[in-house]
Amino acid sequence: MSEEAAAVDYGPLQDLIGTWYGDKGVDIAPEPDETERNPYFETIVFSEAGDVENAESETLVALHYHQIVTRKSTGLVFHNQTGYWMWNAETDMIMHSLTIPRGVCVLACGGWKSQEGGWVIDVSTEGDFPAIAESVFMNQKARTKSFSMQLQLANGELSYRMSTMLDIYGREFDHKDMNRLYKR
Ligand code: HEM
Repeated sequence: MSEEAAAVDYGPLQDLIGTWYGDKGVDIAPEPDETERNPYFETIVFSEAGDVENAESETLVALHYHQIVTRKSTGLVFHNQTGYWMWNAETDMIMHSLTIPRGVCVLACGGWKSQEGGWVIDVSTEGDFPAIAESVFMNQKARTKSFSMQLQLANGELSYRMSTMLDIYGREFDHKDMNRLYKR
């Protein structure tokens, strides 16, 4: 982390800083013989994590985030996710690292482009390097094969679509999550 107090340029990530809330979430999740559809509401808090220099040659700026997701039908938290969004100003690359408390971590890479009233970011685990780390149990029983996410900001509305391809219950399952959020 930079030890100077100079303002950090977070580029396209700047507008994310703060607390977002959305209650139009839909989760499509696997069950042994069926598909579960779970409406949800959530809060995502993005906070500044400053900049880092890797091997004295790559500079990244990062936001930390914490996402708390509540199932509407029960009022209980059923998903808790944390990680970083990173931007490399030199290459314009975006990275998203995430951890969920099932024993699964993901690093998804991609880029962004501006659009009317904001931007669109696309990241995925496609690429040359292993980008998914998971426990032995999850690797054997509920393997995450790939992950992709589109995050969009348009005139104050933050929306996302996540697709997590799972190998579970003897079949391939596209576990999807989507929502629209507004700043609080
Ligand atoms: C808003 C985001 C998400 C929500 C609300 C959510 C919710 C769920 C739900 C309801 C299940 C079914 C099993 C259960 O009832 O606990 C499930 C399964 C699973 N999810 Fe998610 N999920 C989200 C994001 C993710 C992400 C980002 C990953 C990994 C990259 C992930 C990985 C898994 C895995 C591996 C399973 C299979 C485990 C099992 O069913 O035994 N999920 N998720």
